[in-house]
Amino acid sequence: MPNDQLFKNQLNSYDFQIGNTFELIDKVADSSIDLTITSPPYNIGKVYEKRKELAKYLSDYEGFAKSLFKKTSDKGHVCWEVGNYIENGEVYPLDIFFYDIFKDVGFKLRNRIVWHFEHGLHASKRLSGRYETILWFSKSDNYDFNLDPIRVPSKYPGKRSWKGANKGKPSGNPLGKNPSDFWRIIEEDWENEIWNIPNVKANHPEKTIHPCQFPIELVQRCILALTNENDLVFDPFLGVGSSAIASLMHNRRFLGFELNAEYVEIAKKRVLSYANGSLKIRPLGKPVFQPTGREKVSQVPEEWKNI
Ligand SMILES: C[S@@+](CC[C@H](N)C(=O)[O-])C[C@H]1O[C@@H](n2cnc3c(N)ncnc32)[C@H](O)[C@@H]1O
Repeated sequence: MPNDQLFKNQLNSYDFQIGNTFELIDKVADSSIDLTITSPPYNIGKVYEKRKELAKYLSDYEGFAKSLFKKTSDKGHVCWEVGNYIENGEVYPLDIFFYDIFKDVGFKLRNRIVWHFEHGLHASKRLSGRYETILWFSKSDNYDFNLDPIRVPSKYPGKRSWKGANKGKPSGNPLGKNPSDFWRIIEEDWENEIWNIPNVKANHPEKTIHPCQFPIELVQRCILALTNENDLVFDPFLGVGSSAIASLMHNRRFLGFELNAEYVEIAKKRVLSYANGSLKIRPLGKPVFQPTGREKVSQVPEEWKNI
C-alpha cells in the first residue's frame, strides 16, 4: 500500500476543472505541461458530443494545438489517442488529420502507436475495427524516453550472441525488451473473463458509466516512458479520470479539464478510492487471457460440426 503522506501530497497537486477545454487551455501557465495524454471526442455522436461537419470539428483543434504547444515544456510530449470518424459508411482515420494539425504548430512525431484490442462491433460491410492509434509527439529533440520501466518480457531471454566480443553471452536485456509500437492492451476486462463468468461486463474492475474510458494500463505506459516523478500530466478531456489515476500511481502532478460535472465527480471518487486502496485495477503487464480450448464457449457448437 502506498504511503498516506505521499497521497496527501499528491492529492494537493491534483487539479480537476469543469469547463470547456478550448477556453480553459489559455489559463494554463506557459511551458508547464510535461505530458498531455488524452482521447478527444471522435465526433461520432457519443452521449457527450454533438456531431459536426468533419472540417468544422477539426478546425476547433487548430487553435487548441497552437496553445498546447505554448503550454508544453521544452522536454514535453503529447500522446493523442484517436480512432475513426465514419460518415455515410466512409471511414476517416482521425490520426491522419490530427497529424497535420500538430505538425503544423511545431510538434514532432516520435511514434504512431497501434493499440490493438479484440472487443468491439462486428462490421458487416467492411472489416471489423480492432485498433486505434496514439500519436506520440514531442515538442523538441530534447526529450526524455525511459525505456526500462516499460520493457516487456523477451520471448527468448535465453538467446546468446554467436559472434563478436560478446560471443556466448546473453544477447538481450535482463529487464526485457522494447514493447514496440504495437500495443495489445485489452480495452475491457470482460474480454478475458467472459469465458468463465457470465455478465462480467457489469463487474468489470475499471468500468464506470462512461462509454469510452481509457484502460489505466495504456496511460501508465505513456507516463512511465515520457515523464519523471513530479512532472505535470495533463488530460484536456478528462472523462472519468483514468489518466489522473495513472498519474497518481506514479507520483506525477495532474491537471484535467472536463465539460461534464458528473464525470468529474466520478473521476474524483476513483482517485480517492485508488488513494485508499479500494479501486480495482487491471495490473500493468498482466498477460491477455488465451482460451485453452477447454472452455465451453471456445468449442465449436454441436450444430456447426457438419457444416
Ligand atoms: C473519449 S472521452 C475521454 C475519456 C477518458 N479518456 C477516460 O478514460 O475517462 C472524451 C471526454 O471529453 C469530454 N469533452 C467533450 N468536449 C469537451 C470540451 N470541449 N471540453 C472538455 N471536455 C470535453 C466528454 O465529456 C468526454 O468525457
